[in-house]
This record gives sequence, structure tokens and C-alpha cells, in this order.
Amino acid sequence: MGYSTAEACYVFDTGFSDEEERLRLGELLWDPGTADRLGALGVGPGWSCLEAGAGRGSIAAWLADRGAQVVATDLRADRLRHLTGRGVTVLAHDLLSDAPPAGGFDLVHARLVMQHLPARAEVTARLAAALRPGGVLVLEDTDTASLFSHPDREGFLGRAKRAAYRTMAVAGYDPRCGLRDAALLTGAGLVDVRTEARAHVVTGGTPQSRWYALWLRHLAPAMLGAGDLEAHELDAALAELDDPANSWLSQVMISASARRPAP
Ligand SMILES: C[S@@+](CC[C@H](N)C(=O)[O-])C[C@H]1O[C@@H](n2cnc3c(N)ncnc32)[C@H](O)[C@@H]1O
Repeated sequence: MGYSTAEACYVFDTGFSDEEERLRLGELLWDPGTADRLGALGVGPGWSCLEAGAGRGSIAAWLADRGAQVVATDLRADRLRHLTGRGVTVLAHDLLSDAPPAGGFDLVHARLVMQHLPARAEVTARLAAALRPGGVLVLEDTDTASLFSHPDREGFLGRAKRAAYRTMAVAGYDPRCGLRDAALLTGAGLVDVRTEARAHVVTGGTPQSRWYALWLRHLAPAMLGAGDLEAHELDAALAELDDPANSWLSQVMISASARRPAP
């Protein structure tokens, strides 16, 4: 496990060799919906944007391509360096302990980040304070209740799902965070809260299904070590994920947005 601060760790911040690919496949699944929602805000030239917990930076790149000034931050800035020639300022930054970059941003966006952090209210307040009055904070996190559901496969991959989320919960992860983001925004003093949700039907043996396989592979040492899953159960789950005869509902991604009120 990788530790970001004394009190918190990020469950995926390890030496897992396929982490770069896992992040890329996550972008494949979720970027189109994020682009729709950020595009609807009118982001473009003249906007200043903070992409927090930017991962590999696909959304930071998308914002820059729209003509916005972009600051992209993450615990792991090395995965973002490729953006520095594209009008994106890249900063190594720990949301749990560092003040956000100064900027009076028009837009602050964090996807699949808040759900990993233990001190969500404090981090949300700091991100809200980085907005200019009238600026928008967009949090995108998942609600995982729907994951792997299918009407003809009661309990499909249920043991693997429970083991994975148990492992992640130990690191502070909240599997229902998406539905809690609106309250985080209100608690940070923001107004005009809006929420939307989206999900996908995923078919086995596709790049999208591989995102789930890499998720289980990444967590395998911890799940097997804790005795939450047996090796043969993991192998069976990976085979199901690779089988084109299977399909399932993804998690639900919640986009929650709100504005900083005028003083
Ligand atoms: C699941 S990835 C999502 C990446 C990207 N936002 C996306 O949606 O493609 C979570 C990201 O949050 C970053 N992260 C985790 N804890 C963090 C912290 N305390 N401060 C800053 N970034 C953090 C990780 O390094 C990782 O890049």
C-alpha cells in the first residue's frame, strides 16, 4: 500500500505494473460522460480550471484542448508530465495535506478521487475555497451498489466484489460516495447543487471489462492475504470477466456540481 500522509493511504498507489493501463481503461469508460457534463457548463477559452487527482490527465488534456488554462494535480505528477507541453501546469499535490493551488478557478473538477479520501469534508471545503465567486466545483464519484448486477445472474461476482470493497474500505474508501457528494458540496457552503447519474452495460472480454479485471488483479494480494477471497475464486472471477457471453451493469457515476456564492 502506498501512503500519502500519516493518517491516510491511497489503495491503488502501489507498484502494480498495469496501473497505467487500468487508469487508461477507466478513462475510456468514463470520459465521454464527463466531457458531456463539463462541456454543458460552457468551459472554453478564458476559463481557468483545476483538475484535482488528475490520474493520467485525459480530462486535463480535454479542458486544455477546449482553450482553458488548466492546472492538473495528483499525488503522482509523473503520470501527468506528458501534458506540460500542451498548456497544462502540472503539480505534485496531496489533497489531504497541501493547500490547493491559488488561482480563483472558474472550475474545479475531481473524478474518482473523493471516494478514496478519508477527510472528504475538509478536502471539499479546500477545493471550494479555490473557486472564484460564481465558480463551479464538480465532484464525480461512483455508487457501487449496482456493480455486476444482471437479472439472470443473481449474485454474479458477488464474493469478488465484496472482497475488493472490503480491502478498499480498510484504506478509507467509501463505496457509496457518489450519492454523498451533493451533501459534501452543500456542507462546503456551495449553492445551486445539481446531480446527474450515468452507468454502462459492460460486456465480458472488452477493454471496458478489462478495467474490472485489472481492479481485481491490483487488489489480489490484499484480498487473498486477508482471506477474503480464495485464489481459485479470483481465477474464476477473472474468467467470467473475460467471457463475451457475460454482461453486467457498471457502478453508477454521480456528477455533483455546485457554485461558490458571491460574497
Ligand atoms: C481512480 S484514480 C482517478 C484518476 C482520474 N481522476 C480519472 O478519473 O481518470 C484516483 C487518482 O487520485 C489520486 N489521489 C489519491 N489520493 C490522493 C491525494 N491524497 N491527493 C491527490 N491525489 C490523490 C491518485 O493518485 C489517482 O491518480
